[in-house]
Amino acid sequence: MRTRLTELLGVEHPIIQGGLAHIATGAFAAAVAEAGAFAQITATSLPTPDDLAREVEAFRARSAKPFGINVAMGHRPVDAFLEAAIAARPTAISLTGGNPAPYIPRIKAAGILVLVLVASLRQAEKAEALGADAVIAVGQEGGGHIGRDDVGTLVLVRRVAQALRVPVVASGGVADGAGLLAALALGAAGVELGTRFLATVECPVHPRYKAALLEAGETETVVVGRSTGAPGRVLPGPWVDVIRRHEQEGGEAPLWTLMTAEHNRRGALAGDFERGFVWAGQGVGLIRDVPSVRDLVTRMVREAEAGWHDLAPVFGRAGSPEAAAR
Ligand SMILES: Cc1cc2nc3c(=O)[nH]c(=O)nc-3n(C[C@H](O)[C@H](O)[C@H](O)COP(=O)(O)O)c2cc1C
Repeated sequence: MRTRLTELLGVEHPIIQGGLAHIATGAFAAAVAEAGAFAQITATSLPTPDDLAREVEAFRARSAKPFGINVAMGHRPVDAFLEAAIAARPTAISLTGGNPAPYIPRIKAAGILVLVLVASLRQAEKAEALGADAVIAVGQEGGGHIGRDDVGTLVLVRRVAQALRVPVVASGGVADGAGLLAALALGAAGVELGTRFLATVECPVHPRYKAALLEAGETETVVVGRSTGAPGRVLPGPWVDVIRRHEQEGGEAPLWTLMTAEHNRRGALAGDFERGFVWAGQGVGLIRDVPSVRDLVTRMVREAEAGWHDLAPVFGRAGSPEAAAR
């Protein structure tokens, strides 16, 4: 497949592995990159900037393909992480969770591409005006932090793709080849996946997390943390019940103290849902297996191609031999 995104990033398939806090290590990103998608190492969930340098080394020991580094601007002083990210010379740095204005010029000055995650048309237009090379539009069905406006991927991506000149990447709820094809039909140049990449052989999350992803349906994710101004979509569980009770009834400590990075790590890496939580999007309803990253990516591309052929009869053309046989 060739789109403006594959051209921009120098990858085989128009598929980006989203930033995955505590999860997207150098080794995991290398598996994604070797499968032909655009991989990212997540920086700001690591303990120190030196750890980022180590993860990049681990990536480069396994892959010479292009890769990105994801930097969340919100929760901690980001400057040292951004410096380490720039020093690592990735193909692109993606920025999320804050105002990208102070950071974009520094990244561009280093000759590194900038991707900006947005959850509204306003943010998308601002990111383009500031010099973003591509914008990733994340709809409210996505896993992890979502926007405050509750706009779904179908409408958000279309709005942003109509308004911007730079390539737009569709994110939130994309979990298979049909989602990829739909995103391209909306005018996106590719997709970003978070939740779907969790249920893969190489993903370093706890087996209980993968099992929960297989089990959960699309109606089961819940949004927590609205009152903190940073809502996020999670899988249900005992600790999420505690969070929700606090949201309804209040509690002594502020809500965010129940939703720390440590609680997330405990859920994702230790599989402890009694004292931890995990992010997931509505796309869990589409997850039925735990393939290798390569099989997942290859299957998505094949499904998108088959879907395109299968649509041909709708427009009065013959379609694929498989479609004709049905
Ligand atoms: C477990 C998990 C962790 C995430 N961590 C980050 C992160 O650190 N930085 C980021 O930009 N996005 C993060 N996201 C959002 C994803 O990159 C992506 O935008 C989102 O998952 C897309 O929706 P989907 O889950 O339906 O594919 C995370 C998502 C999940 C599921």
